[in-house]
Amino acid sequence: MLISTSFLSSKNIPKDLIKLNETNTDYIHVDVMDGKFVKNKTMPFKEMKNIYRYTSKRLDVHLMVNNPKKYIKEYASLNTEYITFHIETEDVLKNLELIKKYGIKCGLAIKPNTEIKELVPYLPLLDMILIMSVEPGEGGQSFLDNTENKITELKTLLNEYKSNAVINIDGGINNITKNKCKNADILVSGSYIILSDDFQARIDELR
Ligand code: DX5
Ligand code: ZN
Repeated sequence: MLISTSFLSSKNIPKDLIKLNETNTDYIHVDVMDGKFVKNKTMPFKEMKNIYRYTSKRLDVHLMVNNPKKYIKEYASLNTEYITFHIETEDVLKNLELIKKYGIKCGLAIKPNTEIKELVPYLPLLDMILIMSVEPGEGGQSFLDNTENKITELKTLLNEYKSNAVINIDGGINNITKNKCKNADILVSGSYIILSDDFQARIDELR
């Protein structure tokens, strides 16, 4: 299992990013919020960009924003492996193509109440699907129980359409809920890792 560490719950971002750099986390999960698609708002890109000087890890960017187009170019300029935005936004196809244009892998995130079958039209373009196992917007929430069925449903769909997209799960992941994500490829985990004293031990538990 690959691990993508989110630091949304971090109280000291530079320090935690430096500590994370010494672990074998596969990615740093970057949550971007515009205060519209979700209530909370993250710092502007100018500040975000400075923060990523503290890590050499590849970034897994999760745009929780109404207008992904405004953010894609900026985040494509960092050490980014994936840019993911929400299927519940407009111009999905155009924005997926824009991400590809920058040579970055693209993903679609799907909220807990959105149906998996809505992904079908986009499957040929997708490198990743991010199933939200909590309502997007903040760290530290509890894993939603319908996630396990959604993962199974998605796995079947990907086989049916011969898609190689990876399955990433985001929200409420810990040593217990990880067992409900056996068909996933990547787990995003924030508070379980960041609020502990030993990041590497928590990462080892989740793998
Ligand atoms: C939720 C974010 C998640 C969150 C994960 O809106 O997309 O990435 O930070 O944090 P935990 O693991 O604390 O749920
Ligand atoms: Zn996220």
